[in-house]
Amino acid sequence: MERGEEQQSGVTRRGVLGGALALGAGVGLDRLVESGSSSSAKPARRIPFHGAHQAGIATPAQEALQFAAFDLTARSSHAVRSLLRRWSEASAAMTAGRPYGSGDPGEAVGIGPAALTITIGFGPGVFRPGRFGLEARLPPELQELPVFESDALDPGHSGGDLCVQACAQDPQVAFHAVHALAGLARTEGSARLRWTQTGFGRTAATSRSQQTLRALIGFKDGTDNIRAEDAAEMRRFVWVARGDGPDWMSGGSYLIARRIRILFDSWDALGVAGQEQVIGREKQSGAPLGAKREHDPVNLNARNAAGEALIPHTAHIRLASPLTNDGQKILRRGYSYTEPTAADERGQIEAGLFFISFQRSPQSQFVPLQTRLANFDALARHTQHTSSAIFACPPGAEPEGYVGQALFE
Ligand code: HEM
Repeated sequence: MERGEEQQSGVTRRGVLGGALALGAGVGLDRLVESGSSSSAKPARRIPFHGAHQAGIATPAQEALQFAAFDLTARSSHAVRSLLRRWSEASAAMTAGRPYGSGDPGEAVGIGPAALTITIGFGPGVFRPGRFGLEARLPPELQELPVFESDALDPGHSGGDLCVQACAQDPQVAFHAVHALAGLARTEGSARLRWTQTGFGRTAATSRSQQTLRALIGFKDGTDNIRAEDAAEMRRFVWVARGDGPDWMSGGSYLIARRIRILFDSWDALGVAGQEQVIGREKQSGAPLGAKREHDPVNLNARNAAGEALIPHTAHIRLASPLTNDGQKILRRGYSYTEPTAADERGQIEAGLFFISFQRSPQSQFVPLQTRLANFDALARHTQHTSSAIFACPPGAEPEGYVGQALFE
């Protein structure tokens, strides 16, 4: 099934409802609510905002992303609480396909929920001593990321006190969510938009019901991702457990975002065989080098007749593999991006991967992994990290509550 076909037939029905029916409740897909009356009618398009975990992590990755980071301008924790309450109420309405109130800007009217999810997180600045009195509640895991080899970060496009990850099957619905929440922050006078990022073409499958799509490097991306159906892996690698840190984060997860530009002039010049050596997989099929099919197991010890490793020592999948990383895994949920390109001497398109990962422990999962990739991954020579952010996404809200309630009360 090709991507267009999947979209037409409704990735939401196939991927979301199909997944929910086939796999049953209890794996994050239990949040799904069908808007049509029978499985052959309308695709399931509504993902409840409320629940034990925030939606947008274990729920199947949608087609479009609108991401936003905010700086808090509020002076009191009371004002932050009030904003989070308003954001949560508005998010519950918008994910149900309704305008959030009389101030709603209106561009999503008539489109429906489009499987919208809104995931909210807190940056390290929220816990700065003397700011909101929250310093004792800072999770040790929520530290600014170190500067990695060859990082070229734009500070204006990095960091932030709050994040909103809005994902939907329709880009206008995702846009609307961020537009509406930014407007509420402005009227409340408590937060200001810091930076935004639009993403298209999910680069990760997060459910077994989804096929693997291609990143802009032309390779299937997400083959060996954690899938929401793997409840044990979700518990071990994604959800923060009681005892991991402050209780208010139990059932939450840490979000790391990295905007990674692909240097297409050098990447394209490699040709297919050269690119396959960089990734460690076949470009067409997605099979690990030395195997036949996409989901064949990766054998890092496979050698050719001359005794050389079939998957090179600098290959992306070798260095990112749990076998090379103390058994650690992360949940990838990123999107492709492209930016307007102004004429410059190199005439190179600005595009790449807006990488998003969720993990239980940034310090023992993401940091060592990215350190290894930045230093040794052959792919790092064809990419450049231009933006970086980390946020603590608390557990989901109860219907009468709001996201982050346990942090503030
Ligand atoms: C432009 C940047 C990147 C591109 C285009 C890219 C692409 C890919 C591709 C094509 C695969 C193989 C298929 C798969 O299993 O998903 C892969 C695997 C993987 N990548 Fe990346 N990647 C990028 C950056 C990163 C970064 C920054 C990280 C983490 C810090 C990362 C972590 C992983 C992991 C964990 C795997 C799976 C390895 C395994 O389970 O064996 N990637 N990536």
